[in-house]
Amino acid sequence: MQLGEAAKRVEELKREIEEHNYRYYVLDKPSISDAQYDWLMRELQELENKFPELQSPDSPTQRVGGSPAREFGTVRHTVQLLSLGNAFGPDDLRDFDRRVREAAGDVEYVVELKIDGLTVALTYVDGMLTTAATRGDGVTGEDISQNLKTVYSVPLKLKNPLPRLEVRGEAYMPKESFERLNLEREENGEATFANPRNAAAGSLRQLDPKVTASRNLKVFAYNIIYQEGAKVDSQLGSLEFLREQGFLVNEDFLLCKNIDEVIEACLEWGDKRNSLPYEIDGIVVKVNSFAAQEELGETAKSPRWAIAYKFPAQQEETVIEDIVVRVGRTGVLTPTAVLKPVRVAGSTVSRATLHNIDMIRDKDIRIGDHVLIQKAGDVIPEVVQVLPEKRTGGEREFQMPAVCPECQAEVIRYENEAAHRCTGIACPAKQREGIIHFVSRDAMNIDGLGPAVVGQLLDAGLIHNAADLYHLKFDDLVKLERMGKKSAENLLAAIEQSKERGLAPLIFALGIRHVGARAGKLLAANFMSMDGLSKAGREDLLEIPEVGPAMAERIVTFFRQEQTNEFLDKLAAAGVVMVEESKLKSESLAGKTIVVTGTLNKFGRKEIEEVIEAHGGKPSGSVSKKTSFVLAGENAGSKLDKARSLGVLVITEEEFVEMLGER
Ligand code: IVH
Repeated sequence: MQLGEAAKRVEELKREIEEHNYRYYVLDKPSISDAQYDWLMRELQELENKFPELQSPDSPTQRVGGSPAREFGTVRHTVQLLSLGNAFGPDDLRDFDRRVREAAGDVEYVVELKIDGLTVALTYVDGMLTTAATRGDGVTGEDISQNLKTVYSVPLKLKNPLPRLEVRGEAYMPKESFERLNLEREENGEATFANPRNAAAGSLRQLDPKVTASRNLKVFAYNIIYQEGAKVDSQLGSLEFLREQGFLVNEDFLLCKNIDEVIEACLEWGDKRNSLPYEIDGIVVKVNSFAAQEELGETAKSPRWAIAYKFPAQQEETVIEDIVVRVGRTGVLTPTAVLKPVRVAGSTVSRATLHNIDMIRDKDIRIGDHVLIQKAGDVIPEVVQVLPEKRTGGEREFQMPAVCPECQAEVIRYENEAAHRCTGIACPAKQREGIIHFVSRDAMNIDGLGPAVVGQLLDAGLIHNAADLYHLKFDDLVKLERMGKKSAENLLAAIEQSKERGLAPLIFALGIRHVGARAGKLLAANFMSMDGLSKAGREDLLEIPEVGPAMAERIVTFFRQEQTNEFLDKLAAAGVVMVEESKLKSESLAGKTIVVTGTLNKFGRKEIEEVIEAHGGKPSGSVSKKTSFVLAGENAGSKLDKARSLGVLVITEEEFVEMLGER
């Protein structure tokens, strides 16, 4: 391909991919499959590799995160970032309204959710994202441009470019992502984040953008701070404008005619806040008209035209009746507080994770203590603090067990790890948790196989690992307690169905450390089959932008195990699909073994192998009598000679493309 043609295609791909990103991350309405998306990305990446002059800062390939920085640069904010005054109840809101109306007459207000994350300041010049900065001290912040580019809900380019636009927004981590991240960190013996805000901050203030990229952050844009070339004149207009420009804008805003409507909205959200998929810590009330905002002006610290209504804290007092230890899939022992049941934020809480021994010591938590609890991420309950004044002297200190409560193997704590781990190779808890993970929704998604049934199957000796599930019989199942004929049939059907689940979820289901659902997809897209992945070396794996050394190491080690092979063989024998099927574009190369040599014009090295596989063929590295044909590009060398001497068919790139019947 020539440069001119490539440049055109690159522009096309950039536009198309960003549109898909927008549909996926902002509208939440994807219109193509992950596999199709990966193909577009791959094509773009390869063109950019081949023609480095076509790389640009607004390319979606920049979103996977470049190389780590040594330190953050500083950015001087053009407009200082102020903070907001607080209102703790209706009276404070009425006072605020009185001050506003004294200075600016009757006004309308916009109420917005106060997202509990961290402020980001985004600058667009000629429609392109040029800088992203943290709040810092309000005057200067840290340059986190490289990190923010990995956040897909931030447009790299505005839909309707204008000379200059400065936007403020809130970067946050959805509750679900926060919980998953903490679980993963717990299993890896890493310190957990106290709440989604800390997790978001920790993820953005990373010198390595790849870490940010792996964390599923989002940004809600909420203010226009400076505009050149647009004529937005109200807060409501800002939100609409930002949405039209491609930003993710929180939909739960409301225009209020007076302070009564504002108060009503604030109280209502106080009750509803737990139902949101992200954390909010209040409501921001803003005067709608920019003219009125200007009239009101600001104090040294905060604008007079806005205020933050803070929700009352949702904490409750209860008693720690016991501390028990749970053993996870990777053998991590997690101490868990058994609480006297209490209602917090809409549900009854009877357990709270204590994460690890350090947290118990730091907070000086003892069995029998009266404690305040709250829901972090409003879902997982946590102990905020002990109430020492309520101690009676009968409280007991907790000790981490020296042996695993499930298998009695030794418990150790590795250096640099917060967690204690069970060392037992065949620890039943590890096995059980591994199977529960295998059947979970994002993995093999086997309905009707909850932890209780898994426990029953293991206890009855019907299964020893997840592969055994595929060999279960109806007669085995109906013998189990509380398992009717119908449920047994349903369960068998669900197991059967899971065979077709596909490569990506299966890779995730294997429970390899560091390999989450997203990594499963990436690996599936890159290796196309379990066989391919199992043969991948460290270097092959590191070629994938989001795979780091730790993950690569785990994958290689995992597939080196004899046990793994036996396990996979068992799955294969049961007919579990282990190839990326969605990419099987045709069967035009079915049964053909193909050797590629020399330089091709249309395809990169890795790409051609994938194309061959996608059409049912098998790429091979050396020519033999079994080779179906050799695909020879420019400057082909010894392989071409060998093909000729063996009388193996040699074809050109054009002939090959014709054979595929596409492109
Ligand atoms: S407006 C002049 N709107 O809350 C300050 N802030 O001090 C204008 N926040 O950390 C802020 N959601 O990042 C505004 N919809 C929203 C917000 C919001 C969250 C954060 C903001 C800052 C704090 C306000």
